[in-house]
Amino acid sequence: METLERTQTRIGLTEVDRAKVGTLIRASHRHVMDLETVLPWADGIDFSRNPKLETGSWIYGTEYWDALTPEQRNELLWKEVARDVSMFIWLEQSLPPLYMNYANQEPFGMLPEVYEYLMIFSREEITHTLMFRRYLDLAKLPLFDPPRGAYAQFTRQLPEMHPVLGILSTLMLEWVAELNAIYLTQGRDNEPLTRKMFHEHHIEEVRHIAFGKRVVEYFFENGPAEVIDRIRGSFAPLYQNLKNEVTYNRDIARHTSFKFPIAEDDDAAVERIRQSENNRRMNGERFAEVDTWFAKLGIL
Ligand SMILES: [Fe+2]
Ligand SMILES: [Fe+2]
Repeated sequence: METLERTQTRIGLTEVDRAKVGTLIRASHRHVMDLETVLPWADGIDFSRNPKLETGSWIYGTEYWDALTPEQRNELLWKEVARDVSMFIWLEQSLPPLYMNYANQEPFGMLPEVYEYLMIFSREEITHTLMFRRYLDLAKLPLFDPPRGAYAQFTRQLPEMHPVLGILSTLMLEWVAELNAIYLTQGRDNEPLTRKMFHEHHIEEVRHIAFGKRVVEYFFENGPAEVIDRIRGSFAPLYQNLKNEVTYNRDIARHTSFKFPIAEDDDAAVERIRQSENNRRMNGERFAEVDTWFAKLGIL
């Protein structure tokens, strides 16, 4: 049988960052999300309200939006939120096995703060996944299919790759998804249970994002140059693909009760909508900090 080696950790942190991850750990233990009480489930959902900003609809500002009735617009906003919630479910239920596996691969080498935070991270994502599924059930909203394309492929390959790649992929996805959700759902007029759900989620995700940034920045300063070069080469298209799918997701055509005006396979229309003036404005506003951070790492 092979001897377990006391190897140098593959997930490094500076001394200062180890102390900061300690702070994240204490914050998580002080307040553990409880599924029963995190949201006022018994109050139900007010469907007469919009779950997100009307101007944040994927097709707002196009002739397709203008042609919809008020009821169809309201339904579309709910279905768009269902897609965003579905993306959280598919991503977040894939994280605990990925992160636990990193811990098992390095039985002795892992920094204790990294070990503990990967455990906490996993536990928090399990609760989030259950919260999002309960929300879809309560709202009678559909669970969309898992995201496809480069992202889906990448998710399947991650367990075989360096842990920093998994942490960077997770960071990219949850940071974009968080900025999107908070940008769209926190207005005073938005449906209250939906607004609170994304807010409660955000409190824990802010810590996940802080952890991911520290791990990745350390690796880019200290890791092997050829691995970092490969990451630089491969992440720009993944990030673009992710933004495209968040900006407009063609699966929506399967989920509206009315005939959706844009066919799923109409690539030209999909591309035109993703490039609409309203979508370019929103992407510039909501994703600016990810763009800047990626540029700093040489990924864009
Ligand atoms: Fe989460
Ligand atoms: Fe997270």
